[in-house]
Amino acid sequence: MSKNNDQEEFWNADGGKRWVEDIDRLEAMLSGLRDKLIAYVAAKEGESALDVGCGGGITSAAIAAAVGTQGSVLGVDISEVILNVARTRYAKVANLRFATADAAQFPFEANQYDVITSRFGVMFFPEPDAAFSNLLRAAKSGARMVFICWRALAENPWMGAPAAAAFTILTPPEKPAPGTPGPFSLADPERVKQIMSAAGFVDINLSPIDEKLNLGKVDEALSFMTKLGPAAQPLREATDDQRRLAIAAMRAVLESNSTDGVVWMPGAVWLVEAIVP
Ligand SMILES: C[S@@+](CC[C@H](N)C(=O)[O-])C[C@H]1O[C@@H](n2cnc3c(N)ncnc32)[C@H](O)[C@@H]1O
Repeated sequence: MSKNNDQEEFWNADGGKRWVEDIDRLEAMLSGLRDKLIAYVAAKEGESALDVGCGGGITSAAIAAAVGTQGSVLGVDISEVILNVARTRYAKVANLRFATADAAQFPFEANQYDVITSRFGVMFFPEPDAAFSNLLRAAKSGARMVFICWRALAENPWMGAPAAAAFTILTPPEKPAPGTPGPFSLADPERVKQIMSAAGFVDINLSPIDEKLNLGKVDEALSFMTKLGPAAQPLREATDDQRRLAIAAMRAVLESNSTDGVVWMPGAVWLVEAIVP
């Protein structure tokens, strides 16, 4: 096991299993953001691309289509269990390969990629400076890195509001120290700039994207909200009575944000663009 230890274990065990259980719902929820990311990546015919933390491979596949048969895409992910989904789904895409790897440490061949991208796959590095340096080495001079990551939890009610409702019943977990690997570790734009410029990227630019996310039907949204996010662990540790009350409180929030039974809630991300000198 690599230095990534906790994250590697999480994504290969419970975290990965839960992601795979709800993968269709999660990918549907993130599809609008994927389309925006793909538009900003603007991959051209013949380019070579790297998708970091590619998960089920849906973004990698869209880029593979854009770069065409003369181009190629490598999707890397630390989780074998999630990558199995990508391998099964996109086995027939000739210009798309997947590798199980810790992107922070994988010995990529140097000067390989025209573009490095990620949809929510670069927030889990325990040593982000070293990880982004490793990615930079894999890219050609003049290449671009284009990714999306979450802004702060407070700006993401789709995750924060149901969890806050659960915490009217349950004790919330301790707030992670700023920068702790996790979905919100790159929420601070100054930190992103610092990490990326320390790694050697230039022209680093962050733009906010706000988007209402389709969380699916109330029961679907409740299913993944209780398994992923800040309330998941407290719910697992709660008594049966507490869990029932907390889930009822979460359901009420989701219902109050639903239209015709479908939950829509605001999400907030950074689009991060940078150049390899
Ligand atoms: C939130 S999921 C996003 C998956 C996918 N990009 C998507 O948008 O559907 C984060 C992904 O990053 C992967 N990951 C976490 N740390 C990683 C690392 N050090 N190297 C490669 N992948 C990593 C996880 O296994 C997981 O698949």
